[in-house]
Amino acid sequence: MRKIMVIHGPNLNLLGVREPEHYGHTSLERINHQLAEVSRAQGIALETFQSNSEEQIVGCIQRLFDSPVDFIIINPAAFTHTSIAIRDALSAVGIPFIEVHLSNVFAREPFRHHSYFTDKALGLICGLGPYGYELALAAALHYLES
Ligand code: DQA
Repeated sequence: MRKIMVIHGPNLNLLGVREPEHYGHTSLERINHQLAEVSRAQGIALETFQSNSEEQIVGCIQRLFDSPVDFIIINPAAFTHTSIAIRDALSAVGIPFIEVHLSNVFAREPFRHHSYFTDKALGLICGLGPYGYELALAAALHYLES
C-alpha cells in the first residue's frame, strides 16, 4: 500500500482562527479529514503531522528512514523562509515532495517570496487555500502511478 505523509508547520494548528483573510476559515482538522477521505477512497495510507517546532519536524522527517513513505506533502509555514534544517532533512531522506501554501506568498511581504524548499520540490502549490492540499494529493497520486 502506498504511503503519503502530510507535514504542517508552525501556527497551522490555528487554521480557521488565525488571520482568515490570508488562511481562510477551514480548520486543520477539517483539511486532514478531507485528505484522509480522499486517500481512503484511493487505497492510500495517509499520515498527518503538525508541529510548531523545527526540531520536531526534522525528527518527523528523519523517522522516515525507518518507516519510509512514498511521498511527502509539506506546508513548512514560516519555516519555509528560514529553515535550512528542514530542507536538509528532506534532502537526506530523498523522498519526493510537493510544497503547499494556503496563501499566495508571492502577493504578500517580500520576505515570504523566498523559500528554502521550492528548488527541491517536485512542485509548488500556493494561493488556493485548503484546495491546494487536495490538488497536491491528486498530483502525488498521479506521480506515484506514472
Ligand atoms: C503559509 C505562508 C507562510 O508565509 C506563513 O508563514 C504561514 C503559512 C501559507 O500556508 O500560506 O504560516 O505557509
